[in-house]
Amino acid sequence: MTPQHDVTPATDWWRDAVIYQVYPRSFADGNGDGMGDLAGIRSRLPYLRDLGVDAVWLSPFYASPQADAGYDVADYRAIDPMFGTLPDAEAVIRDAHGLGLRIIVDLVPNHCSDQHAWFRRALAEGPGSTLRERFHFRKGRGENGEQPPNDWESLFGGPAWTRVPDGEWYLHLFAPEQPDFNWDHPAVRDEFRSVLRFWLDLGVDGFRVDVAHGLVKAPGLPDMGHGEQLRLLGNQVLPFFDQDGVHDIYRSWRTVLDEYAGDRIAVAEAWTPTVERTARYLRPDELHQAFNFHYLNTDWDAAALREAIDTSLDAMRPVSAPTTWVLSNHDVVRHRTRLGGGLERARAATLLMLALPGSAYLYQGEELGLPEVTDLPDEVRQDPSFFRDAGQEGLRDGCRVPLPWSGDVAPYGFGTGGSWLPQPADWAALTVEAQTGDPDSTLELYRTALSLRRTHPALGAGAFVEWLDAPAGVVAFRRPGGLVCTVNTTAAPVRLAAPGRVLLSSRRLDPSDGDFALPGDTTVWFEE
Ligand code: NOJ
Repeated sequence: MTPQHDVTPATDWWRDAVIYQVYPRSFADGNGDGMGDLAGIRSRLPYLRDLGVDAVWLSPFYASPQADAGYDVADYRAIDPMFGTLPDAEAVIRDAHGLGLRIIVDLVPNHCSDQHAWFRRALAEGPGSTLRERFHFRKGRGENGEQPPNDWESLFGGPAWTRVPDGEWYLHLFAPEQPDFNWDHPAVRDEFRSVLRFWLDLGVDGFRVDVAHGLVKAPGLPDMGHGEQLRLLGNQVLPFFDQDGVHDIYRSWRTVLDEYAGDRIAVAEAWTPTVERTARYLRPDELHQAFNFHYLNTDWDAAALREAIDTSLDAMRPVSAPTTWVLSNHDVVRHRTRLGGGLERARAATLLMLALPGSAYLYQGEELGLPEVTDLPDEVRQDPSFFRDAGQEGLRDGCRVPLPWSGDVAPYGFGTGGSWLPQPADWAALTVEAQTGDPDSTLELYRTALSLRRTHPALGAGAFVEWLDAPAGVVAFRRPGGLVCTVNTTAAPVRLAAPGRVLLSSRRLDPSDGDFALPGDTTVWFEE
């Protein structure tokens, strides 16, 4: 295989990169079967180049029975036929590099699919087999072993254990089709270092590490001791989350990444009780970035936003890692809907995020201002948490509806064969085609903002913001290099003295010289 690494070399490119998440099944359908695929992604790479992002993170496209939309991997080195072939993946990497885009792939190391060869053999070989040691198989509790081995709950609802016909139980923190690996087993550690190398050899620029906080379980798999475990996620160290032992794994991965030229990176999906504990994943000999879920979960409130920004920047400084920012992804309600203020608030939130120092993650469709689809009929839903009654009401399908590209009716240029989740009938005005060239459109706002991030010295880089005095409900800060970002989080206009020339605004403004009313739910970038 020829290593493909012809993107312009740049040290630390990731420190202020804008990384765009592609959710393959919903991005673009190249073969007309209603499901997005690698051919579709490849054909739309020029769109991402023109949008102005630096890198693309691809959610899983590996061979998978799709019990959790590909986060149940049956073969880490193969492409699922519904997405294409390995040569298709190589072509995406090659074309992306040719366009100056980097590619980050998803790595799912906490669990695999119940159709993974190891798990199938473990089941077939029975209790006491060496293959079972690569997972967490246990005898049950109770007289006849009819109770799960401990009280852990699955994040998708119900017990975290499933019993197999020979009487043993296996652990799955997610769906029963996603058995957890036993990371104390050397074969598991060796296998994932080899998987890293497989994709690095193909030329990928990095990995997004799924459930990075979950790999190591507390010795003896102790009971939690109480119910409502889901409520505790992210509030404290749990026997299955954020155990200190995970860090050795990331140190060993870092040595693999560093063997490769071209600044290859890893970004952790790590849910931890505090941002300080997240920073531990980003020590200089561990991973490069982590998603900032603290920021994603912050309400649209000036004081809360300031606190989240300060806390995030302060936590990363001691480990010299860039802070990251994110508003939407494939697991949460789209921020246009979640923040409760419609499109204007979503646009204001985006401009605030893109003015902060560090790296920003975008989720496909947010550049079109897509809302969450909240009225999907039960029969089309696919999110396993919907079926496992985790109290999440199947929320994750509503942000996964395929993108509208062009035309007036569904599937809006997504492909020629419908779309695996139905698109709303009123998305014609939201297509890429409809928004392109319209200076007031959300797509053009993103394009302008991302182009400014490339050229303006005050955007992206650095690790500080200088807070400025501002009226109640307004967030204002200066970035070194002469940029002031002002955000009105309230619904009412606020009179302001403009600190300079308006560089970009999330909403059309009517500035009279020097002094004007900043409308509600609006962010403005001023050049001093
Ligand atoms: C986090 C992923 O983002 C989510 O979609 C998935 O269901 C879980 N990890 C389990 O892999």
